[in-house]
Amino acid sequence: MTLWKLVFSGPMAPLYAATETMMALEDGPLSVSLFEQPDDETSGWLELLYAEEPDAEAMRETCGLDASYAAECQPLPEEDWVKLSQSGLPPVIAGRFALHGSHDEAPDGKTAILIEAGPAFGTGHHGTTRGCLLAFDGLLEAGFAPASVLDVGTGTGALAIAARLAVPHARILASDIDPEAVEESERNAEKNGATNIVFFAADGFDHVRLVAKQFDLVFANILARPLIELAPAIDRAMHKGSVAILSGLLETQADEVSAAYLALGLHIERQGPLDGWSTLVVRKA
Ligand SMILES: C[S@@+](CC[C@H](N)C(=O)[O-])C[C@H]1O[C@@H](n2cnc3c(N)ncnc32)[C@H](O)[C@@H]1O
Repeated sequence: MTLWKLVFSGPMAPLYAATETMMALEDGPLSVSLFEQPDDETSGWLELLYAEEPDAEAMRETCGLDASYAAECQPLPEEDWVKLSQSGLPPVIAGRFALHGSHDEAPDGKTAILIEAGPAFGTGHHGTTRGCLLAFDGLLEAGFAPASVLDVGTGTGALAIAARLAVPHARILASDIDPEAVEESERNAEKNGATNIVFFAADGFDHVRLVAKQFDLVFANILARPLIELAPAIDRAMHKGSVAILSGLLETQADEVSAAYLALGLHIERQGPLDGWSTLVVRKA
């Protein structure tokens, strides 16, 4: 398959907003990556991959970037991209967890989670997944042992699988708005021997399984806007002593997302940023 790479380069701040816009698109690019110039963190480039030649000017408009952003669009040589991307991905270490593809192994002493690179989000290489796993590891390290876990926007199922492997007897529910992600998560859970996780498709908390349910731990690694919109529902899904680990927000959006949760009387600890992405650990006292 021939892939097309579209790159916009210029000052960094608008590129953050463009990254978020592209990640939120339903029929967006196959991948969205933001890079800082090694010698100047105020400028960088946004790299978008497509299965067909994109309309660079239309994408520029969607991204909200003006003509000063240099656009470069070119086909990439034919390759087995999935295989290539897997072989290039080293294991990701996040506290006690190590996420790896089948071409690789987790280092000794780590909880291995096998996730192949595929269409769903969450090989662990992204700062948001890593941030959630690090926050989870910190909670476990401090003695937190959740008996019930909800993973909203489970992607590849990585966080739900980590929860199952770390807390064998917890009740775990994991949902995604994308039914294909749900199927991929189920396959990944099976490969990892992570049994007894209830995966299902749902938009946010709009599902009968989530009505009037509370959890000791809620993961929600989605984008800033849905995190703000879901704040009341996440609050309702928490009881006294519950913790929510929220990610998918850029460092520049951390204040706005935090404000939505502080307004509900929740306590927030901010972690990161990792590659520009912040993680919030939210507690209900
Ligand atoms: C950034 S990925 C996170 C995947 C995984 N939890 C991880 O940490 O690697 C966000 C996921 O949330 C899903 N999503 C987006 N909006 C959602 C919504 N309103 N309800 C449920 N899932 C949603 C997307 O389909 C995607 O799989």
